[in-house]
Amino acid sequence: MAKHDLDPNYLDPNYEPVVNHTENTPFHQVLSARMQRRTLMKGSVGAALASVMGLGLAGCGSDSNDGTTSSNVSSTDIGFKAVPTSTANEVVVPEGYSTEAFLPWGTPITGSYPAYKPDGTNTGAEQEQQMGMHHDGVHFFPIDLKAGGNSSSEGLLVMNHEYINQGALHANGATYVNDMRPADEVRKEIAAHGVSVVHIKRDTNGKWDIVFGSPFNRRITGNTEMDIRGPVRGYSKLITKYSPDATETRGTLNNCAMGPTPWGTYLAAEENWHGYFANGDATQPREQTRHGVGSSSRYDWELADSAADQYVRFNVSTIGATAADDYRNEANTYGYMVEIDPFTPESKPQKRTALGRFGHEGVIFAPAKEGEPVVCYSGDDSRFEYIYKFVSSKPYYAATAGGYLLDEGTLYVARFNDDGSGDWLSLDLDDADFAAKVAAAEGTQVGDVQFDGFENQADVLLNTRLAADIAGATPMDRPEWGAVDPNSGQVYFTLTNNSRRTEEQVNAANPNANNRTGHIIRWSEEGNDHTATSFDWDIFVFAGEQGTETVVDDEVIVSLTDDNIFNSPDGLWFDYNGRLWIQTDGSDAAPYQNNMMLAANPETREIKRFFVGPQGCEVTGVVTTPDVKTMFVNIQHPDGNWPDSNDPRPRDATVIVTKDDGGVIGA
Ligand code: FEO
Ligand code: CA
Ligand code: CA
Repeated sequence: MAKHDLDPNYLDPNYEPVVNHTENTPFHQVLSARMQRRTLMKGSVGAALASVMGLGLAGCGSDSNDGTTSSNVSSTDIGFKAVPTSTANEVVVPEGYSTEAFLPWGTPITGSYPAYKPDGTNTGAEQEQQMGMHHDGVHFFPIDLKAGGNSSSEGLLVMNHEYINQGALHANGATYVNDMRPADEVRKEIAAHGVSVVHIKRDTNGKWDIVFGSPFNRRITGNTEMDIRGPVRGYSKLITKYSPDATETRGTLNNCAMGPTPWGTYLAAEENWHGYFANGDATQPREQTRHGVGSSSRYDWELADSAADQYVRFNVSTIGATAADDYRNEANTYGYMVEIDPFTPESKPQKRTALGRFGHEGVIFAPAKEGEPVVCYSGDDSRFEYIYKFVSSKPYYAATAGGYLLDEGTLYVARFNDDGSGDWLSLDLDDADFAAKVAAAEGTQVGDVQFDGFENQADVLLNTRLAADIAGATPMDRPEWGAVDPNSGQVYFTLTNNSRRTEEQVNAANPNANNRTGHIIRWSEEGNDHTATSFDWDIFVFAGEQGTETVVDDEVIVSLTDDNIFNSPDGLWFDYNGRLWIQTDGSDAAPYQNNMMLAANPETREIKRFFVGPQGCEVTGVVTTPDVKTMFVNIQHPDGNWPDSNDPRPRDATVIVTKDDGGVIGA
């Protein structure tokens, strides 16, 4: 999301309209602000370290010197001295740590490796070979992962480029000639979106660099050819001129967070994709209205001065005689999780429709277990939207696991009951309860949609938000990233903020009206079984200013201080030792100042500020090498001229954090 999203009226290119107008607020129990009367759930201390890296890696987060498997679960104590809030235009980390900006926007990574030009004159074709803008979700795949290894000195760094800053991207910002946009400007903007795969290696001096010429280096953009997979593949509502059989599309856009799969691939999320399409028709289908597609688009790509389909497709008006003659359905090919295999550079990205279509912030997998279904969680980051869970039909076997596991299964949506229990509500028409709710809703008004039924399961998934409305899910305060504790199995989600929630709309899981600073919720699946259909939840912490309390059974468990005040939690990640990293995307106002990253001990709820970003940025995306000794943190939409004071343009970049003594980050 964007830096000013605390203020819903701020004219922000990434602003999300409130499009859920249902009244799914079944629990009106008003808890006082900052109060949460739930029993503290206890994690199963001593559980084996999960194979969070996939392919059955074990012990990759061990503190032991040789980095080999260890049955000892590393301490999650927070060992550094908290850094203060900061307004500086630089990165701040604790004493004993160092940082370096890496892979800034425009860095050449493929093809002819065209040099970055600080005057903004790189062409669209050059941008297609350079790092995109607005770095977001990121993951480090050890180069030897497929061979069962866990290298911490060489790997594939894969990251999303969520959106763009047109002012910095071009020599003179976005331009118009006779109300049309020069096609190469649009080409460059599309190319600055998407995903980068960068083969990186650490030299003997500890310095990381790109492996130039590596076949793994790759750009995936808003124009890369992709397959539609899963139940929505071939559905008539995805027919376009480009793909009359509704099996393909081009591009992925507004990729926010991500999730590494247990089989070593990368899922990029499509979040605020609605803003890229323009519909000039008098009325719009529910597949667009429930997401906020408008009559004009964010960057006016449909106004490119070119008749080429790669630009025309952003106009989703009804123009041709049939759907195969225009792009009225193009927006229906967006809103998915997109699987990319970074180890197979020629592979075509796959849109995995069984995981639903909504404003996917990211996805997080439960540890895969041999012979059991694959389970993953995904939040829909808009005000009053939902948290989902996918459970595969087929079992996971490490030897044969692959993306096919994501093509068949059940999509559930979460209902958080006010007694601290929760239920996963099936969105499958074969589920009797859901089918009955759908039948009862037919012919009624569901929010702003006059509901006339679902044609089939593909239609359900295409309209996942509407299906969740009908199922009776709990509208949340903007679910952003999720994370699974490798030690306890508990699932955590950030709820970044929701200033639109009224006193009448509060529920126990979202207990604050005008929630401007957000909170972090967590749950344990029944029996610690991620396929379970019920769970117990509590609130891990409420964000806010000094003195903000998180109270459990009348006991103050957390009271925020100068060391850990924060607002609008967004990025969230458990490292391989089980420390929880919390990243923020709030305003830069006092008392919080620049956005930041904090570390938390999930057992004790001790939280300390570890990192503060430069001015104007959000801090989003974090991962480490398996030994947790090199950390990669993404800085998105910095102001001014960070990171290079000699460059007039701000450049989104990855910050490499290391400990000067070569030790484990956070310990
Ligand atoms: Fe892209 Fe919801 O942050
Ligand atoms: Ca985010
Ligand atoms: Ca955000």
